[in-house]
Amino acid sequence: MSIPSTMRHTDHGTGGGPEAIRITHGPVPQPGPGQVLVRVAYAGVNRPDVAQRSGSYPPPKDASPILGLEVAGEVIALGEGAQRWKLGDQVCALVHGGGYAEVVAVHATHCLPIPAGWSLKDAASLPETYFTVWVNVFDTGHLSAGESILIHGGSSGIGSTAIQLAKAFGCTVYTTVGSADKAAFCRNLGADHVINYREADFHAEVKRLAAPKGVNLVLDYIGGDYLKKNVDLLGMDGRLIQLAFMQGREAMLDLGPILMRRIVITGSALRPRTTDQKAAIARGLEAQVWPLFAAGKLRSVVNAEFTLDQVAEAHRLMESSAHLGKIVLRIA
Ligand SMILES: NC(=O)c1ccc[n+]([C@@H]2O[C@H](COP(=O)([O-])OP(=O)(O)OC[C@H]3O[C@@H](n4cnc5c(N)ncnc54)[C@H](OP(=O)(O)O)[C@@H]3O)[C@@H](O)[C@H]2O)c1
Repeated sequence: MSIPSTMRHTDHGTGGGPEAIRITHGPVPQPGPGQVLVRVAYAGVNRPDVAQRSGSYPPPKDASPILGLEVAGEVIALGEGAQRWKLGDQVCALVHGGGYAEVVAVHATHCLPIPAGWSLKDAASLPETYFTVWVNVFDTGHLSAGESILIHGGSSGIGSTAIQLAKAFGCTVYTTVGSADKAAFCRNLGADHVINYREADFHAEVKRLAAPKGVNLVLDYIGGDYLKKNVDLLGMDGRLIQLAFMQGREAMLDLGPILMRRIVITGSALRPRTTDQKAAIARGLEAQVWPLFAAGKLRSVVNAEFTLDQVAEAHRLMESSAHLGKIVLRIA
């Protein structure tokens, strides 16, 4: 199998707006111990990429400075001790940066097979949001059949993944969105109750709909004044999981309900987790979620495709928040 010595990849310099991203040439990475080299066909675009590009979310020290957290493509080289995959295998993978490139090195344990019947384009959109939602909502949050979940921003990559997984595991889904087309998109994914927060008070609506028990889990990346409302909507032993805080990281909170209803507030970031932790999440996904793809219970939410040369446009679309579901870059 021929491995190129150089590759095309993005470079966003010291950061800035979408126009800061240039396409450049650089050396192809070498696979380290336990890693494989993947020739990237498609890379997913995620909101953390936008934050990294703008300079507000620097990559961890051991990560590639190149943008991109998820890819799908073909294994073209094996690092020392890399197991399971062979040359020519098609995989999708959670990468530690470096996805917006023709070739990326990734731990073999962070690769997953392409779900049966799925294209590389659709598979590239899976890892970042499925790893995040799985570990937070199901591992940490213990969401189980018969429970209910409130998912803020249901049309986002994270939200559309959470809606589908919660429905596949037998839960009632409440979700918030900012437009009528986003509402229709979420209903189509199976959400039971969709509230357009620009037209209705989501707090009052969910309070009414989920009465008298309240919701079991809230998945939030908005933060700010949502904190108090989220806690108020949780019932006994409720869990609030914070993935980000797009509208502010500070808020006031009455601690009374935490005691009286045994509420747990937690959160996590996927990127700084250890190699072993990410491998464990991949194993959980493969065992418990990948069969759902084969069974047709989960579908692709890719709604926009750009070439690598159009990467700035892809970022502009994401920053406009007008998109539904996922955006991908065609690399090959
Ligand atoms: N903790 C982790 O490990 C982790 C991993 C991945 C992503 N995340 C975070 O999860 C969030 C969603 O990521 P994603 O890739 O799924 O995002 P996305 O597809 O770009 O969706 C973001 C959505 O957020 C809504 N929104 C709410 N407040 C906003 C604001 N102030 N500015 C812009 N949009 C706002 C918009 O929908 P409406 O029009 O409906 O408001 C928008 O479409 C991001 O904050 C991201 O950083 C966290």
